[in-house]
Amino acid sequence: MKFFIDTANLNDIAEAQALGVLDGVTTNPSLMAKEGIIGGENILAHYQKICDLVDGDVSAEVISTDFEGMVDEGEMLSSLHPQIVVKLPLIADGIKACKYFSDKGIKTNVTLVFSAGQALLAAKAGATYVSPFIGRLDDISTDGLNLIAEIRQIYDNYGFKTQILAASVRHTMHVIDCAKLGSDVMTGGLSSIKGLLKHPLTDIGLAKFLEDYKKGNQ
Ligand code: E4P
Repeated sequence: MKFFIDTANLNDIAEAQALGVLDGVTTNPSLMAKEGIIGGENILAHYQKICDLVDGDVSAEVISTDFEGMVDEGEMLSSLHPQIVVKLPLIADGIKACKYFSDKGIKTNVTLVFSAGQALLAAKAGATYVSPFIGRLDDISTDGLNLIAEIRQIYDNYGFKTQILAASVRHTMHVIDCAKLGSDVMTGGLSSIKGLLKHPLTDIGLAKFLEDYKKGNQ
């Protein structure tokens, strides 16, 4: 299972990368704005900084909503750095653009996916990644994890190569449940990754080992 971090915060990205378990980064316009990264040139420079920090795929989202605009933006973004993946919204023009980029061998991440039917369309258009937003489904009292299970079954039925990128991951249990369901990737905040470290018995056990070591060496 790949671990992506869902942020534009360079400190969080660097910390996850230093842990040695990071496989990539996802961003979106809201995450960029949260870091105060506003305006075309600043956003492009920020993508460059993120690519310099990590080894894996970095999703960069288009803001156009028409096919031509998405193609222009996506080509510009993908030419920035070989790690860039063009992130496209699941709307009709986004699916057309996904097919366009996959035919050219450019990686894509189809985002804002909330149903199995949408995920099926993204796979048929050759998406590299499909991003079902599980946290936002949970927010409206719909089982986000069930969507991961449905997509896994459909993709396995037909051998689709599109990777399921569980997005809008909010906590460690989302990560564990996505892993159980066979999600290829998860993207969440730094806390959803670092939270996996925690167990009180680990802390108690380590304290005891260190205490016994000291006693033995007195
Ligand atoms: C996916 O790529 C999105 O950036 C993201 O996971 C959205 O998550 P949110 O629902 O926490 O905003």
